[in-house]
Amino acid sequence: MAEHNKKILVTGGTGYIGSHTVVELQEAGFEVVIVDNLSNSEADLVERIGKITGTVPKFYKVDMTAKDEVAAVFEEESTFDAAIHFAAYKAVGESVQKPLMYYENNLNSLMNLLWFADKHNMQNLVFSSSCTVYGQPKQLPVTEKTMVIRPESPYGNTKRISEEIIEEFAQVTKDFSGIALRYFNPIGAHPSALIGELPRGVPNNLVPFVTQTAAGLRDQLKVFGDDYNTPDGTCIRDYINVVDLAKAHVAAIKRQLTGKTKNNYEVFNLGTGTGASVLDVVKGFESATGVKLNYAMAPRRPGDVEQIYANASNAENELNWKAEKTLKETLASAWEWEKKLRNIQ
Ligand code: NAD
Ligand code: WQD
Repeated sequence: MAEHNKKILVTGGTGYIGSHTVVELQEAGFEVVIVDNLSNSEADLVERIGKITGTVPKFYKVDMTAKDEVAAVFEEESTFDAAIHFAAYKAVGESVQKPLMYYENNLNSLMNLLWFADKHNMQNLVFSSSCTVYGQPKQLPVTEKTMVIRPESPYGNTKRISEEIIEEFAQVTKDFSGIALRYFNPIGAHPSALIGELPRGVPNNLVPFVTQTAAGLRDQLKVFGDDYNTPDGTCIRDYINVVDLAKAHVAAIKRQLTGKTKNNYEVFNLGTGTGASVLDVVKGFESATGVKLNYAMAPRRPGDVEQIYANASNAENELNWKAEKTLKETLASAWEWEKKLRNIQ
């Protein structure tokens, strides 16, 4: 396959996972066009990506919920070989407070993308889904056949509904391939430390809170719950390195472009297959970086599932993709990124 002839639209491409994926796509030889409204990312990401790969990707500041703006991009670019759709709001707690904002942004952006895919005969779409669609599964590890439930948060529900929309569209659209990738917990940063996770305000997620505590921006990490039914009492997750995750998108796109898509719609779990507890992350961070963390046990956080980790063998068998980085390496990369952001030597 001649990747250099293939043009990929990446919505949300200046965001955390999107920017890492743009790098991997460019390094694999694809031409990338980014669309992002910068609601949760910065314009300079485009140059940062260019510093890593040597090519500044084309960028449109466009809101995916604005149909006329999306139309203009498709007309200007005269379609794409494939799109990866990252653009979405992603804060679970905020979605409970502002459900309409989440349904509007996450569903309308997908709808617009599909309308113009249809109109311009764009045949391939990779979608960012989430392990949140499983809730607390009865059996671990989770396979793609594990029942998808109605997630507890509007955010999670937008992912479930989006998957259904893509599946229904794929069923009636000849030659269209939709792949939903269900990410477990993406963490870490690019080894260049030029791109990484940039939470605005106080982080909700564990690893940015850990690195900000280590950097002195937060006083203390609170471990939410130590009385769960797990070996050390803290919750278990499947933390996946963001560069590994980005590479899975390249594998999904290659699968589509080489016509290997078995059905018009497929789903893949993207995780390491191994669960780590909150205390594993804390200890792993300390041993990977030599930095002591100030942390304390705290009450459970409402809505947290006790434990979840992936069976990722479907991705290994079909996408020929597997997570490679260890948890410690990944935590070290998150710390390198945080240090560079805060000018810590
Ligand atoms: P992010 O917020 O860093 O990136 C999302 C990007 O989309 C941002 O740059 C934002 O500005 C942009 N965006 C949002 N709404 C837009 C719109 N209407 N038009 C154009 N651009 C818009 O988030 P991320 O962590 O990189 O997540 C990317 C995707 O992966 C999201 O769909 C998210 O739901 C999904 N996901 C993330 C995680 C995670 O833990 N980070 C886990 C599972 C799934
Ligand atoms: C991980 C663990 C916390 C912060 C979220 C979304 C999910 C998906 C991934 C998008 C939990 C504990 C956290 C802290 C802590 N995103 N924790 N102290 O909740 O697994 O998943 O991101 O699709 O939908 O819900 O990730 O990083 O918030 O928490 O003890 O300050 O760390 O209780 O056990 P979570 P997280």
